Amino acid sequence: MKRILVTGGAGFIGANFVHHMIAHSDSEITVLDKMTYAANRQSLEGLDSKRVNLVVGDICDYVLVNELVPQHDAVVHFAAETHNDNSLHDPRSFVISNVLGTFELLEAVRNHGVRLHHISTDEVYGDLELDDPQRFTETTPYKPSSPYSATKASSDLLVKAWVRSFGIEATLSNCSNNYGPYQHVEKFIPRQITNVLGGLRPKLYGNGANVRDWIHASDHSSAVQLILEAGQAGRTYLIGADGEKSNREVLALILELMGRKADDFDAVADRAGHDLRYAIDSTVLRTELSWQPRYTDLVQGLEQAIGWYRQHRSWWEPAKAQTEQRYAQQADAFKVAS
Ligand code: NAD
Ligand code: DAU
Repeated sequence: MKRILVTGGAGFIGANFVHHMIAHSDSEITVLDKMTYAANRQSLEGLDSKRVNLVVGDICDYVLVNELVPQHDAVVHFAAETHNDNSLHDPRSFVISNVLGTFELLEAVRNHGVRLHHISTDEVYGDLELDDPQRFTETTPYKPSSPYSATKASSDLLVKAWVRSFGIEATLSNCSNNYGPYQHVEKFIPRQITNVLGGLRPKLYGNGANVRDWIHASDHSSAVQLILEAGQAGRTYLIGADGEKSNREVLALILELMGRKADDFDAVADRAGHDLRYAIDSTVLRTELSWQPRYTDLVQGLEQAIGWYRQHRSWWEPAKAQTEQRYAQQADAFKVAS
């Protein structure tokens, strides 16, 4: 896998993956990214320009995609609209990028015989009760709740159909909630860290009992590299690091690590249709491909993330005010609707 096309490589997980591959392989990478509000050029700074090239463009652009795909040995497809809250207020861009964009890539890899790895999410499986002993596995039925997760489920089903009907060489992975450097300040962990750093109170949705299964983005990257190199065509792999925590617990850790009082946050209106709990069983990946996460201590991972946001204010500050303004507008729209 020498020449890799990474879609969405200027976003959070894509950028982490590019850094990982430059450090842990001899691949040459083209990033194809539309540079939406979620992308940041600075996330790719410091990388060897002989090995990483950024093409600003849209995965829905048939001509561009069919020019780029045949120049590569594999496509790793991260590009998507990814934020659940936004999908409740503006679902159109999710359908276009996540469903139609994936369709264009599928047609291109089919026409040019190029290997694809499709990045997806545990949200396609819906949610679990807090006391459910089951976790998501590769055979859990799809039951997405939000416009975002419905578009990701749609894109997964397209990939599976192209594997079965056209025999494209593709693998899929569904991963749990990522955290780490380069994550946009709209997402839960960076929003709370940067709120504290910027003198705002953290915001907890509802009663904070919702559980997410946290994994460090660098562990997601190592899993994707392994699947790309050793995964079986047509297969789905679930990626998770046994990191279940309630939002209340995660926020309490952030407040403690940042020297704030435990009650120094605002409980705000809940997200509509808010999924209660996600939990991944990654036994298949661990046993068949011998994958192991490196970040198994969330406190240590959060400490590192807090340090990163402290040291990289110029990376996140330009997006912060705009993001909080968007949240305020969404809250107003929610009040009008309910
Ligand atoms: P992100 O929002 O940080 O980045 C997405 C990137 O895709 C951005 O750089 C954006 O500019 C680009 N993009 C969007 N639409 C595009 C288009 N039409 N053409 C080209 N580029 C486009 O997202 P992320 O959190 O890094 O997520 C990356 C992938 O991983 C997504 O497919 C997401 O569904 C999946 N995923 C995310 C998580 C998580 O916790 N964040 C967990 C599991 C899976
Ligand atoms: O599970 C994987 C998914 O994780 C990915 O597919 C998505 O792209 C990614 O955004 C993430 O989805 P979530 O909706 O779980 O992530 P988010 O960071 O938006 O929220 C995490 C939890 O925190 C969720 O229960 C909502 C809650 N939350 C979020 C925000 C932004 C708050 O309590 N307060 C907040 O301010």
